[in-house]
Amino acid sequence: MMKTNDIVAHNSAAWDKQVDGGNEWTVPVTPEVIAKARQGDWSIVLIGYKPTPRNWFPADLRGLDVLGLASGGGQQGPVLAAAGANVTVFDASARQLERDRFVAAREGLTLSTAQGDMRDLSAFADASFDLVFHPVSNVFCPEIRPVWRECHRVLRRGGALLAGFMNPDLFIFDLDAMDNRGELIVRHSLPYSDLTHLPEEERLRLFGPDAPLEFGHTLADQIGGQLDAGFVLAGFDEAPHHAQITSKYMPGYYATRALKP
Ligand SMILES: C[S@@+](CC[C@H](N)C(=O)[O-])C[C@H]1O[C@@H](n2cnc3c(N)ncnc32)[C@H](O)[C@@H]1O
Repeated sequence: MMKTNDIVAHNSAAWDKQVDGGNEWTVPVTPEVIAKARQGDWSIVLIGYKPTPRNWFPADLRGLDVLGLASGGGQQGPVLAAAGANVTVFDASARQLERDRFVAAREGLTLSTAQGDMRDLSAFADASFDLVFHPVSNVFCPEIRPVWRECHRVLRRGGALLAGFMNPDLFIFDLDAMDNRGELIVRHSLPYSDLTHLPEEERLRLFGPDAPLEFGHTLADQIGGQLDAGFVLAGFDEAPHHAQITSKYMPGYYATRALKP
């Protein structure tokens, strides 16, 4: 069985390859998006294609310290920087972070990047940030309670964690039947792991050796984990999965706005 650090290394390399493959979550924003953001007209996604509610953010981002957590790809980070925030983008994939530096250089934006595993934010001191923006990426992390504890530690009092994550119920279905035959067949129990729930031969046949490994965490770990880390919940949202047939029946993603009191 793969160790958790090996999983993170695998997923870091896998996301590097997603950049080459043109995955939509690796495509940098255009100059037009940045020009509008500089004028105060901006919107970024936390879940699916749904704009994050504007009132989940502080009214004025100028001068605020923002961590884009596992948020590489030249998407949310540069927009928040153009809106005036001091942005650090943290991600496991070097190529994803290159995308953020590419947009920053193209647009003359100041933005920092740091490479690492979302479970370990020791690169940052306690109380370093006013806002953590964490789009749907903990599906690639084998354990998430350490992530919530680290987010709580690096936030200042009164700071907010905006997090998007998968509806775990998506993981109960047989993926082959769903993606290739359009059938919803219940197969897996939760919490789900690509490594324990699929025979290796089937996983390699369905996804190939270079695909990121996915984990379907329970709501107890997603929401309970944030509460146990010391957050209070101040906002909740949902959105359909952007690509699955499950979107006819249930949300694909949930989003939380959590505050550090
Ligand atoms: C779906 S992309 C999210 C970024 C994208 N800009 C978005 O809008 O959702 C998932 C990201 O999580 C990162 N990632 C995966 N495992 C990670 C880990 N353990 N620590 C930090 N980042 C990780 C990947 O490199 C990838 O950039």
